Formats: sequence, structure tokens, C-alpha cells
Amino acid sequence: MIDRRQALKAGLGLGLTLTSRLGTSQDDPASVRPKEGDLLVKMGDSEKAALTPADIPLGAMQTLAWAMDPADHTVRSGSRLNQLLLLRFDPEKLAPETRSRSADGVVAYTLICTHNGCDIDDWLAGDQNLSCSCHSSTFDPKDGAKVVDGPAPRPLPALPLKVVDGKLVVAKPFTARVGFEPG
Ligand code: FES
Repeated sequence: MIDRRQALKAGLGLGLTLTSRLGTSQDDPASVRPKEGDLLVKMGDSEKAALTPADIPLGAMQTLAWAMDPADHTVRSGSRLNQLLLLRFDPEKLAPETRSRSADGVVAYTLICTHNGCDIDDWLAGDQNLSCSCHSSTFDPKDGAKVVDGPAPRPLPALPLKVVDGKLVVAKPFTARVGFEPG
């Protein structure tokens, strides 16, 4: 039978293990959120080719991407909260604030739905809106990914972009916390 002292020791050990794991995760360059200056690469691209605006089809469904450290080419794919979706529009079709975060018409948002955290997995070509098939939340990526339908409580956080040497580069961190509201 485990006595109280052993139980405390075990609990402390577990706590330390968890703390060190969390510390490792937070320090892991693959798991930290995209940073200013990061390049973008298409998900699944083993060549890790840095994306340019021309790589994102105009007015078409989302391209899935990760941020990549420009120095050592670490792809920040260690957390599903780092999944990005990219879209390209005629800049004239973007709301002013969204245009200011775009690069040659390319906008970036988290892939994580703000309702219950499913991946945003649908593209409504007619309205050029994003949709989450879990509970049909719909977002307008031309206007800050504001919620236009469904139960999502807030817009998708955006990742501001710029173009440097012809490549898409992260200009600023996410505009809001990535994740979802506990239901
Ligand atoms: S998780 Fe996306 S609408 Fe519910």
C-alpha cells in the first residue's frame, strides 16, 4: 500500500514531469506560433519551398500551409494550432483592415474553427466564404474572417503577411488567440 509520503512524492514527480514537458513544448521551435519574418510552406511539401503570392490560386479554395523559420528551415508543424490557410483575392475586394494585413491579395488565417476547434474544411465558391463542416459556421475571409453564419463566437484569427524578395513572409503574430471557446 502506498503511504502518504510516497503519494506526495509521486505527485510531485508527475508535476515536474508535466512542467518539463510543457516547458519543452513551449521552447520547441516547431511548436511556437508563427513569428514575424517566418516564411510559409505548403503542407506536405517535403522540399519546403517558400511560397510566393503566385503560388496561391486567385479566388480559389484555401491552400494549407505552415510557417517556417527562415534561418534553419524548421517547419512549425509541431502544434495543430499552427495550421494556416491561405487565400488570394483581388485586393480591391478586401475590406480595408483585411487589405492592410494582406500581401499582393494573399490573406492568412488559422485553420482552427473558433467554435469547437475543428479544422476549417470547406470553401463556398459562390460567396467566396470559408465554412466549417462540423456545425456549419461560415466566415468571410475578405472581411477579417468575420462570422456570417453558424455558432462560432468570433472571427478566425488572422496572420498578417508581407512580401519580401518575392516571398510571402509573416508580418506580425496572429491578431488574436488561436483556439476555441470551451462549449
Ligand atoms: S467546430 Fe466549427 S462550427 Fe463547430
